[in-house]
Amino acid sequence: MTAAGKSAPGNGVRLASTEGVCRPDGDSANGYAAEDQRQWAALDLTHTRQSGTGRILHSLYGATPRNRFRRAILSLVIKLEDGTLHSGTLRRIFLDYHKVSVGAYTYGGCFVPGAFDKYTSVGRYGSVASGVRVMNRNHPLAFKSTHGLFFNPELGVAESDPIRYVPLEIGHDVWIGHGAIILPGVRSIGTGAVVGAGSVVNKDIPPYAVVFGCPARIIRYRFDKGTIQELLASRWWESSLEEIKSSPGEFLKPYKDSHALWDPHERRDSLHTGNPDR
Ligand SMILES: CC(C)(COP(=O)(O)OP(=O)(O)OC[C@H]1O[C@@H](n2cnc3c(N)ncnc32)[C@H](O)[C@@H]1OP(=O)(O)O)[C@@H](O)C(=O)NCCC(=O)NCCS
Repeated sequence: MTAAGKSAPGNGVRLASTEGVCRPDGDSANGYAAEDQRQWAALDLTHTRQSGTGRILHSLYGATPRNRFRRAILSLVIKLEDGTLHSGTLRRIFLDYHKVSVGAYTYGGCFVPGAFDKYTSVGRYGSVASGVRVMNRNHPLAFKSTHGLFFNPELGVAESDPIRYVPLEIGHDVWIGHGAIILPGVRSIGTGAVVGAGSVVNKDIPPYAVVFGCPARIIRYRFDKGTIQELLASRWWESSLEEIKSSPGEFLKPYKDSHALWDPHERRDSLHTGNPDR
């Protein structure tokens, strides 16, 4: 049995499901099914800590638009709730005020306001380095001007915002290296993927692919095809950290004796193939 319970909504957060939370052609103005997203994200919120003070800080965050105060609130929340891996209030703040949903045990640069555009969802056990930027829409290239004045109502000219966001779904156990940029139009970064430092990602990334460069290209896969399928089917990320900690064995060594990330010389032949069948 997993931490979340097999029947709970949002189990496996998004990856295994092709229908779901961030529908580009969905039913809201932005094609974004906010209620669904809320539903599954709520699942992880119940598995992360939220203190009474956290609830107050959540409201205060919403009440103040001042970045300085917001930053101070975030630091306090992180301190009070044992860091970004475990904080439920942090997740609730990002979901409610930034429309970024982050699964349990995911940590790092996704918790910087503005780093991830709204309508980004990140699965569980993810690692996001600093300086990562997710952009889910462009300025309007087909308008007379691309200037924000003409589509952003907050700037006082446009009455409504006509530019759609394309939601991005980041799977579980994804590692995004320092300074990577995810361009608008990318809809999915698969579970287990690795995005190299400084990459500019312009296409969807399949599960367990390792990509880097500008534009980012698949350099290889972390495991062979059979192992990838086995890992995806296992849905190990549905386990809580407590469950994993009780028998961490296979997390503390190369999985199935894979050498992929451990001995660069042994895997030279498979570089640049982008082929998990190697
Ligand atoms: C993507 C990454 C995981 C690949 O690691 P790896 O498989 O061990 O790859 P190697 O270091 O053996 O590099 C293989 C080749 O790719 C190149 N390369 C590796 N990462 C690259 C990157 N991000 N951008 C451009 N080239 C890269 C290497 O220079 C090497 O080139 P060569 O064959 O000409 O010598 C790693 O390079 C990376 O970018 N890590 C992110 C680090 C980071 O941001 N950490 C933040 C803390 S969380």
